[in-house]
Amino acid sequence: MRRLVILSVWVLFPWLFVCSQTPVYKDAGQPVEKRVNDLLSRMNLREKVLQLNQYTFGENDNPNNIGKEVENLPAEIGSLIYLSIDPQLRNEIQRKAMEESRLGIPILFATDVIHGLRTVYPISLAQACSFNPDLVTRACRMAAKESVLSGINWTFSPMIDVARDPRWGRISECYGEDPYLNAVFGVASVKGYQGEKLSDPYSIAACLKHYVGYGVSEGGRDYRYTDISPQALWETYLPPYEAGVKAGVATVMSSFNDISGIPATSNHYLLTEVLKDKWGHDGFVVSDWNAIEQLIYQGVAKDRKEAAYKAFQAGLEMDMRDNVYGEYLEELVSEEKIQMAQIDEAVSRILRVKFRLGLFDKPYVEELPEKERYLQKEDITLASDLAEESMVLLKNENSVLPLSSSIKRIALIGPMVKDSSNLLGAWAFRGRAEDVETIYEGMQKEFGDKVQLDYAQGCALDGEDESGFFTALETAKASDVVVVCLGEAKQWSGENASRSTIALPSIQEKLLLYLKQANKPIVLVLSNGRPLELMRLESQVEAIIEMWQPGVAGGTPLAGILSGRVNPSGKLSVTFPLSTGQIPIYYNMRQSARPFGAMGDYQDIPTEPLYPFGHGLSYTTFVYSDAKLSSSKIKKDQKLIAEVTVTNAGKVEGKETVLWFVSDPVCSISRPMKELKYFEKQSLKVGESKVYRFEIDPMRDLSYTDATGKRFVEAGEFVVWVGNQKLTFEVVD
Ligand code: GLC
Repeated sequence: MRRLVILSVWVLFPWLFVCSQTPVYKDAGQPVEKRVNDLLSRMNLREKVLQLNQYTFGENDNPNNIGKEVENLPAEIGSLIYLSIDPQLRNEIQRKAMEESRLGIPILFATDVIHGLRTVYPISLAQACSFNPDLVTRACRMAAKESVLSGINWTFSPMIDVARDPRWGRISECYGEDPYLNAVFGVASVKGYQGEKLSDPYSIAACLKHYVGYGVSEGGRDYRYTDISPQALWETYLPPYEAGVKAGVATVMSSFNDISGIPATSNHYLLTEVLKDKWGHDGFVVSDWNAIEQLIYQGVAKDRKEAAYKAFQAGLEMDMRDNVYGEYLEELVSEEKIQMAQIDEAVSRILRVKFRLGLFDKPYVEELPEKERYLQKEDITLASDLAEESMVLLKNENSVLPLSSSIKRIALIGPMVKDSSNLLGAWAFRGRAEDVETIYEGMQKEFGDKVQLDYAQGCALDGEDESGFFTALETAKASDVVVVCLGEAKQWSGENASRSTIALPSIQEKLLLYLKQANKPIVLVLSNGRPLELMRLESQVEAIIEMWQPGVAGGTPLAGILSGRVNPSGKLSVTFPLSTGQIPIYYNMRQSARPFGAMGDYQDIPTEPLYPFGHGLSYTTFVYSDAKLSSSKIKKDQKLIAEVTVTNAGKVEGKETVLWFVSDPVCSISRPMKELKYFEKQSLKVGESKVYRFEIDPMRDLSYTDATGKRFVEAGEFVVWVGNQKLTFEVVD
């Protein structure tokens, strides 16, 4: 009888038995949290610990990250830094995890897609100069697609470390010196990478890094101590991360630096109390490369086991590369120094991201031929558009630019004219020099049939060989205008690329000064990954264009700016000091106690920087007028509307970014002289006027934070700065 009942149930409801055979965690119809908990309940300790580890696969091409490879890759490894772009190979590794392991948990494949994978676009410091976050979102979306097609489901990007010391090579990787700018572009990047849903076919998990304060590395040296007050933490360095977490970022990477005595890697306050308890981040934290083991060098762990213990107890879920967790977590659990519940909490965070990415349901990526994966026409156009909007016209004396149509010969001189590889910038490991359009190629397309282009390299990027100077001078003499292209090698910025001076190598300066003998107008073009010291060059040239490191498509935008086909619209995301000696110098400093002339400043050089944050010229003239506020007095819970009318009073169409700053002249704590709180970029035709509007929310825009992150709005006078206009108003209780 019993058999008859079972048989009839089987016949009537076959799905009942099928479902009862399919574990909940493998059932795509189940809620993520149910799948996480079901899978967790099936895992043994070793399987859990392996989820908390990330190894690498492939030839490590980052010379800064040395260390031996893990011998044989366990099928249960949580994540791999995948140093290849072959989707088929990646699927073979994934198949091992899905089919050879007991539970079939997919591997999370990661890599550094920082400013493009194969279609490389401008470095982040340049992207921020576009003041066009929507364009950056589109670029990141494109990079995400190329990543998925290469087998990558997680990028260690965006880097949102506020940086104010250009001796630090990694300033090239962030969005400049301002917290709000890093927040806006960090969120724009997260949206691009993660799309509407993490499970969308071409979405990848993003990773805010390096949490936190890495940009304050002492003296601009890398990996160093950072002395950050709680006030500075909350006012300057944490806001971009809070914005990124609120935007739903899947992961966060802790930073190398020691934060006032407690390294980020073992900083419970930041990794748990702030990131998870206060902000509610429900993804996971990955360490930086070997950073857990590095706690030993930083003097807070006596050995690898103690390092594992301290990092894990702080709330660091995944160990990148040094296998410290893989070696010691089980032992620490057996000694009851770490509770299984803590392990489960950490593992569940990693599983949650994998489920949200859809990796359990779609563990494999499509295997397209290389030419269908990269460098699609529309993507190169996108990279070019972003490069165009990132370039900054720093100087344009006597309107030497755009170049006059009467010009018949242009001398193109300098080590960057035909350079391709260095235009990619740092962290573009999958980019290829042959994909790059050089300055020379861009100029040929723009001018080739109308103007004679004469090229001379003049000198190398560095060294003492002046043998090319004479030919360069002769080339210059025969021309109507000299375009000198100088700059940095891509490895001079990025990780482990600190420099004691931000001046160009002297050979490059000497070349430019030597060319003065030609008595021709000189346009200086710069391709670099940090602000440069230009104090000896600026007065020697009529115009300066900062093209940054534009990636694969910089030649045409630059040529377009020189010809006038493009009206430059970039504004600096970072201050250009007059000299290295001025560092640190940034726009939102606090007022001197004696702000009278040069009192207290260096007595041997001017006080002002060469080019301030927000500086950028146009070929047209934008007139700001009729700046006004909706009220001269508001209560703390009331909004205030600030408006300004901008008119294109010049002869060409252009894009103008209006930057809105606020200041609080008198407050319980001192406040920066100015703080950027909003910006907007619009195109204006010749003669067109547009109203730019900023809705001020006192708690968001006027508040200050105390050392615990609590925000306060204080009654009193405030100032809104827009263009050359200053508007004051009062906040009352
Ligand atoms: C590096 C960098 C980090 C990068 C990671 C993986 O050391 O600090 O930005 O994402 O290791 O390559």
